[in-house]
Amino acid sequence: MIILGIETSCDETSVAILDEAHGLLAHLIHSQVTVHAPYGGVVPELASRDHIRKLLPLVRQALAQASLQSGDIDGVAYTAGPGLIGALLVGATFGTTLAAAWRCPAIPVHHMEAHLLAPLLEPASPCFPFVALLVSGGHTLLVEVLGIGRYRVLGETLDDAAGEAFDKTAKMLGLPYPGGPQLARLAGCGRSDRFAFPRPMLRRPELDFSFSGLKTAVVQQARDLAPAGVLAEADRADLASSFQEAVVDVLVARSQRALDVTGMRRLVVAGGVGANNRLRQRLHDELTARGREVYYPRHEFCTDNGAMVALAGCRRFPGRPTSDHAITARARWGLEELSPP
Ligand code: KG4
Ligand code: ZN
Repeated sequence: MIILGIETSCDETSVAILDEAHGLLAHLIHSQVTVHAPYGGVVPELASRDHIRKLLPLVRQALAQASLQSGDIDGVAYTAGPGLIGALLVGATFGTTLAAAWRCPAIPVHHMEAHLLAPLLEPASPCFPFVALLVSGGHTLLVEVLGIGRYRVLGETLDDAAGEAFDKTAKMLGLPYPGGPQLARLAGCGRSDRFAFPRPMLRRPELDFSFSGLKTAVVQQARDLAPAGVLAEADRADLASSFQEAVVDVLVARSQRALDVTGMRRLVVAGGVGANNRLRQRLHDELTARGREVYYPRHEFCTDNGAMVALAGCRRFPGRPTSDHAITARARWGLEELSPP
């Protein structure tokens, strides 16, 4: 089975072709960073317009890269939500139309399900069941995963998502958009123990998260260091590093606790913040020390990508051709609403 995957939920236009037997045949990601950078964040309307411009050329390029014709594609999977509604509608309309023209099924995919299945794209992939830590710009979730579509949310953020906290703190430190990876880079030059920022909710038994207080603590500290607003380079790096360490502490401790309460030993990390090297290193060291396993996809499969959408589509393939080419796009869509294929 060969599936074309289309991702347009936010600011990456991505297309992939996945062959169930032979793996990924093509994977293209077009980042809209330069479109949104002047505004310091994603502008939804501009995101939609850029997806429209890029999708068809990317699909053509992917088919050429895979040396395939449209007739070789068995199904078109597209991200149906959650995400920016305009951006989702572009991918959903485009994917469904392609599927209708190519007389194959269109498969609507849940963006977070695609993220949590992304580690299955790797050669050393985890078996079910596992706990998934989903950390992206829009979500921070701990999920018990018993199989495809069998999800129980164990905890989630009560305010900012982890990626959002990275991005907002980065902006406050004067770093260019997109802030998360830039902050992580700056943190590499700083001291993580200089400022004792709060570890929100860590003393509480629930598995929820809260990051907005942490962000405020960094703002306060920055004001104390530089009342006139110009931070010394070393101070910026130490703030970044101490902030990152606080976020990582919380994510590691919460993940360990989720494994304790579910009695599981495998953790899967997915979503853009899963690309953070400090988080990867700490999870690896601390989980393996307790006889546990941690799986993360390579960086390009952590952030938004078409490969994970193709994979989720493959696992949810309808089995028989459908004549129903209804377009599905949902800005909000809970993981627990899904059921097994
Ligand atoms: O999953 P993703 O690509 O898009 C969403 O669905 O949100 O995640 C993007 C988020 C952004 O907030 C970005 O700043 C963050 O992931 N991110 C990182 C790193 N790389 C991306 N945060 C911390 N460290 C990184 N290396
Ligand atoms: Zn995402």
